[in-house]
Amino acid sequence: VEEEIMERTLSIVKPDGVAKNLIGEVIKRFEDNGVKVIGMKMISMNKKEAEGFYAVHQGKSFFESLTTFMASGPSVVMVLEGEDAISKTRELMGATDPKQAKEGTLRRQFGTSIERNIVHGSDGPDTAAFEIWYFFNALEIFPTVSPLPFETVSQP
Ligand code: CMP
Repeated sequence: VEEEIMERTLSIVKPDGVAKNLIGEVIKRFEDNGVKVIGMKMISMNKKEAEGFYAVHQGKSFFESLTTFMASGPSVVMVLEGEDAISKTRELMGATDPKQAKEGTLRRQFGTSIERNIVHGSDGPDTAAFEIWYFFNALEIFPTVSPLPFETVSQP
């Protein structure tokens, strides 16, 4: 039997998701599938903050439009925890482009375009670590398992 790995990931209910009253729906999908919310807040990113968050996409054709959209209104950022949380979250969201996403996924059901796809989720452990600490400090996260193996810090 393969053991699943306890993971943390960052998800965002994007400005279109918040505008469409989908905060609860997104959280419900995660919680119903063994992914726990261990940190959460509503924020309104400014352009610079959106650019910093999506820095890996700098230079791409959609960067300007994406960061303007992400700064267009409030969004809900959350830290999620669970076994295989990264891939589970991505499965529940569906493909980036709602048209390509599987039936029943969040983006397929509620997304309107590749940009307005209502929800974001980290795409791997390294991205998750960067994205979590971009928005949350240690006092804002309430893990059920602590610390994860790679988070151990040396004591003085
Ligand atoms: P997200 O998971 O938040 O990560 C980057 C976002 O860029 C992505 O979801 C999309 O909403 C947005 N985006 C816009 N155009 C594209 C594109 N052509 N390819 C990938 N992502 C895009």
